[in-house]
Amino acid sequence: MTSNDAGLSVPDWPTSFGSLYKLPPMVGGVKWEHGHRMFAEFIGLLIIVMAVWTQRVDSRKWMRVLGWTALGAVIAQGVVGGVTVLLGLPWVTSTLHATLGQMIFALVVAMALFTSRLWLQDCDPIAERDLWPGTPALAAIASAAIWVQLILGAAFRHFGMKLLPHLIGACVVTAVVCWTVVRVLTRYGTVDHLRKPAQLLLALLMIQLGLGFCAYLTRMTFGHNAVQPWQIMVVSTVAHVAWGALVLAVSVILMIQTRRMITVHAVEVAAQRAHGKAVVA
Ligand code: HEM
Ligand code: HEM
Repeated sequence: MTSNDAGLSVPDWPTSFGSLYKLPPMVGGVKWEHGHRMFAEFIGLLIIVMAVWTQRVDSRKWMRVLGWTALGAVIAQGVVGGVTVLLGLPWVTSTLHATLGQMIFALVVAMALFTSRLWLQDCDPIAERDLWPGTPALAAIASAAIWVQLILGAAFRHFGMKLLPHLIGACVVTAVVCWTVVRVLTRYGTVDHLRKPAQLLLALLMIQLGLGFCAYLTRMTFGHNAVQPWQIMVVSTVAHVAWGALVLAVSVILMIQTRRMITVHAVEVAAQRAHGKAVVA
């Protein structure tokens, strides 16, 4: 939508050219704008099924709450999308829409983790001491930095900010993610549940930096004076946006797994030692 400059091709909402059900001619920007709305309805339907299903079969109350939270969030996403159309795409609402979309993705991925066999199996807790910040806190900081970075990228993409804050953000994210990944790999390299998301996060980040560079070249340098959205620009910027969602989701998985498996408590660790329990790290 955004890369194709199709944002206002359908100018009304919740109707499309005055109708709630008629398919408008799917040409030009309308095919992106109306197609986006149809796909959004499909996603909404899937999330309704997911929320109801979770309510019926999952005995964990917090999972049922997460299902309804995802449904509430996707409804809010649709409303913010409609509002940004009605207001003529102000950067604040478009940025909110972009960021909330990424958060819904991360939430649904987290729910997939919570219902996976991997999660339902028992895991041995790991005690951690004498590390600052503790690994769960470090992973949470990495997720938060990525989240802010997505906001800065969206604010630039929707003309609310210059690129510089996003570039500074890229340096901060790279530093924090590398710190987190090195911590996990050096301390917990033998623990699959932690090593795998950490390795994946690092690989995704490296590719994201490359995609960001491609987005920069095609949007700001070569495609600067393009009269029509340039196909290579559309592909590279959309790839960069979508990859950003993957980076966020994997960092959230790492954050959840570190929080689940690692206990940071100096006193408790000392007590465990006294009782002769194994202490890792
Ligand atoms: C499941 C629900 C939805 C999801 C997950 C979703 C997701 C997204 C995403 C990821 C973008 C791209 C943001 C960017 O590139 O920075 C976008 C753009 C957009 N969406 Fe949605 N969307 C949803 C529903 C809707 C609805 C119902 C509308 C109503 C008209 C809408 C209107 C828009 C508009 C106008 C843009 C372009 C904004 C701009 O270029 O300034 N979206 N959406
Ligand atoms: C830490 C790594 C990075 C992450 C997670 C990231 C994420 C994002 C996201 C999610 C967006 C779009 C937000 C949206 O509309 O929803 C974006 C936009 C953008 N980013 Fe990045 N980015 C990163 C690094 C970089 C780097 C290193 C560069 C440049 C060298 C860059 C250049 C851009 C450009 C040019 C845009 C706007 C694309 C457009 O105009 O369509 N990014 N970034």
